[in-house]
Amino acid sequence: MSGNTLDIINKNRAGKFYEVQPERVNIEPFTMVIFGGSGDLSKRKLLPTLYHLCHDQNLPDEFTIIGFASSKRSHEEYRELVKTALKNFSEDGFDEGCWENFSKHLFYISGGFDDVNSFKNLSQMLEKYSKPSEKGSREIIYYMAVPPQFLPVIIQQLSNCRLCKGMFNTRLIIEKPFGRDRASAVELNRLLAQAFDENQIYRIDHYLGKETVQNIIFFRFANSMFEPLWNRRYIDHIQITVAETLGIENRAKFYEQAGVVRDIVQNHMMQLLSLVAMEPPISFEADYIRNEKVKVYKTILSMDEEYIDNFTVRGQYGAGTVNGKKTVSYRDEKDTLPASNTPTYFAGKFYIDNWRWAGVPFYLRTGKRLHSRITEISIHFKQPPLSLFRYSCEVLTPNILVLTIQPYEEISLHLGVKHPGIGNQLYPVHMNFNYEKDFHGNFHFPLPYERLLLDCMKGDQTLFARQDGIEAMWEIVDPIIKRWENTRPPDLPSYTAGTWGPKEADEMIARDGRKWQIQ
Ligand SMILES: NC(=O)c1ccc[n+]([C@@H]2O[C@H](COP(=O)([O-])OP(=O)(O)OC[C@H]3O[C@@H](n4cnc5c(N)ncnc54)[C@H](OP(=O)(O)O)[C@@H]3O)[C@@H](O)[C@H]2O)c1
Repeated sequence: MSGNTLDIINKNRAGKFYEVQPERVNIEPFTMVIFGGSGDLSKRKLLPTLYHLCHDQNLPDEFTIIGFASSKRSHEEYRELVKTALKNFSEDGFDEGCWENFSKHLFYISGGFDDVNSFKNLSQMLEKYSKPSEKGSREIIYYMAVPPQFLPVIIQQLSNCRLCKGMFNTRLIIEKPFGRDRASAVELNRLLAQAFDENQIYRIDHYLGKETVQNIIFFRFANSMFEPLWNRRYIDHIQITVAETLGIENRAKFYEQAGVVRDIVQNHMMQLLSLVAMEPPISFEADYIRNEKVKVYKTILSMDEEYIDNFTVRGQYGAGTVNGKKTVSYRDEKDTLPASNTPTYFAGKFYIDNWRWAGVPFYLRTGKRLHSRITEISIHFKQPPLSLFRYSCEVLTPNILVLTIQPYEEISLHLGVKHPGIGNQLYPVHMNFNYEKDFHGNFHFPLPYERLLLDCMKGDQTLFARQDGIEAMWEIVDPIIKRWENTRPPDLPSYTAGTWGPKEADEMIARDGRKWQIQ
């Protein structure tokens, strides 16, 4: 035998299991069609991100961006609109030299989504501008930066004009909301599936583009010291908080229809929950990771009405003071209904009914106009089996691992150590890893959209939601939405802006002998 057993196994594993994708993957020449290329999302996020990628030379020399919207404007007028947007929203400022190059790649189609001639025009422009890759394929990305009611007509038009499959290698990026309940999500997925294969569809959730969110997987599965403890034997409970200081920011029309569960819980919070709770995937490939996430959604204990009444809390913000500024109540925001019952706060207790997590509560809470802007996952470990130090401090704080995602990205381990001195005092300390400080100056931190757009260009679906995942997430929250819509809400508003939410949420967790990590 030429090598020992371990060498032989590792040689065979290399590539199959442990191959990490290289930092830079060659991106083929592409054309991106932005439906709604003049809208808010395009101006604030997409176009600045594409400009930034161009500035950093992360785009190929050959690329074309076509904005598609109803207002009449020439290519030149569209370039002016984009220039203004970049000046207003580009986080890295505006550079004339880069703009000169970037603007040459910008084009515009004016036309209604229901107008077949606009799509014929699109087809001709794709013929003209899309450059074949070395392999001869022509890569087209459709970005749906439009309100959801336009999706069916756009997909139908693309399909009728044979622009979904065939002569172009196409991908489709869709923004949330992916439906407003399970039934509509199934219907949307059915519609998409008529025109595109699942491997062409990229359902974007910008939360998954954040470094710390991706790092949850790296942290868990690259460090052997935590994974053995990552289960019901050692973990007492887990908390996930997504707190915003903002109100609804002129989005009343959307928010009145959505509410906090559709806006945040069904997508961002479920994604975070699944990354923390999932089993190790057998490989770092998109579908292996997404398989494990879907298994988590499917094992979350379903909630009947009694459960929902006891273990979820809804709220709506009243007037208050946030970050030193007076703010109005939700009902006084522009375009909300004066007696609106739309919830802006959610707290709830979830259980994952599998071998690893049986009996471990996951407390989730999120809300608008809360005390601080923070997104955080805290893993609370069980107390040691014997209270050897009960005389040295009043309360023993358990070990807590805190993964902070916003407003800064940090991992912090809370430990108990001996306080220096002749006594035997136990003292809580934190071991911190901070992304900004620890990698400062050495790395560029990609913005969430930057990372996700590049992934789509490379054809990597890992950070995008799959059809079955979306439907499973709705299945978890549908009963909560329904119960809340069918029962009398508590007296609203139920919390003052600038606080940590309704007292009922504190009471819910206190009934289990626990408290919120952030308060
Ligand atoms: N805004 C954000 O920061 C944000 C963040 C996350 C997700 N999203 C999601 O992104 C999507 C787009 O939101 P948005 O805020 O960007 O919307 P928006 O500002 O209302 O923009 C809509 C775009 O669609 C075009 N349009 C509307 N009706 C059309 C029609 N009949 N034919 C052709 N073009 C038409 C508009 O152009 P004209 O004005 O020329 O008609 C505009 O370019 C939504 O699904 C939203 O939930 C938005």
